[in-house]
Amino acid sequence: MSSRRLQDKVAIVTGAAQGIGQAIAIRLAEEGAALAVADVSLDALSDTVRQIEDAGGRVIAKVCDVTASASVVELFTAVTENYGRLDILVNNAGIGTAPNDGFDLYQQRMADRSAQLHKGETPTVFADHITDMQDEGWQQVVNVNLNGAFYCCREAVRVMAAQGVAGSIINIASTSAVSGEGGVHYCASKAAILGLTKSLAMEVAARNIRVNAICPGPTNTPIMANISDEWKQSMVAAIPMGRIGEPLEIANTALFLASEEASAFTGQTLMANLGTYLA
Ligand SMILES: NC(=O)c1ccc[n+]([C@@H]2O[C@H](COP(=O)([O-])OP(=O)(O)OC[C@H]3O[C@@H](n4cnc5c(N)ncnc54)[C@H](O)[C@@H]3O)[C@@H](O)[C@H]2O)c1
Repeated sequence: MSSRRLQDKVAIVTGAAQGIGQAIAIRLAEEGAALAVADVSLDALSDTVRQIEDAGGRVIAKVCDVTASASVVELFTAVTENYGRLDILVNNAGIGTAPNDGFDLYQQRMADRSAQLHKGETPTVFADHITDMQDEGWQQVVNVNLNGAFYCCREAVRVMAAQGVAGSIINIASTSAVSGEGGVHYCASKAAILGLTKSLAMEVAARNIRVNAICPGPTNTPIMANISDEWKQSMVAAIPMGRIGEPLEIANTALFLASEEASAFTGQTLMANLGTYLA
């Protein structure tokens, strides 16, 4: 651990068991932050905890389902009890699909439609997704991606305001928020995160709490396992930089926003997407 840009800071990262959240937690810890990592299962967090501890970092792991506000309150209480302060929140927990959201049918129809197009036929299959999306599927994605971020932002501001901390809140949205590529539930919830980011940034700016968002493009994490190989290939072909992103690249963006180097940034969205979409 060479430079220590977050020495004496305390950070919470939600959805930190794998993928982007894990990379962010490890990167913030490398820069000296004491970490609280949260996810739906303690077992799943063990790899993140081990990696932080092996690198000499401080970490506590907590089970927290961000869709349950009581669970979120417990997480923040545990953090203040353990560390006595909170400087950084990364709202990373997110899902792209949920049971009963019609995604399987959508993928099948997409495959059938592109097969027709490849054969030079006039497509007769339409890849509607919304028509098979049940209330439950819509609600679960919105619950995790948007309501979860709201519950965590609310607790973070309560704690930071009570302590007079100059905090940094980082919301992981998605390029889908602006490109419209993705399920309607996913795109809507991620676009809403950008609205939440801007409004909250204005609200708490006078307290010196900064609120920013990151929009990753396609990034190499387990969330991509839900997407067919054909879809992945067409995704890569459409990325100007010719590859998908790595979790570390998003982690470095989060580190910047968490650090003093980003002291002038609030209410902003950083598009860490390899040129996928220019907002
Ligand atoms: N990977 C990508 O291509 C990509 C692109 C754009 C945006 N994002 C966003 O980045 C974030 C992380 O994505 P990822 O690819 O690392 O996903 P991932 O599925 O690999 O990891 C997400 C983590 O969030 C956790 N989680 C899910 N529901 C939760 C809940 N209710 N409470 C607490 N934790 C919960 C999961 O258990 C998992 O550990 C998400 O918000 C995602 O929407 C990812």
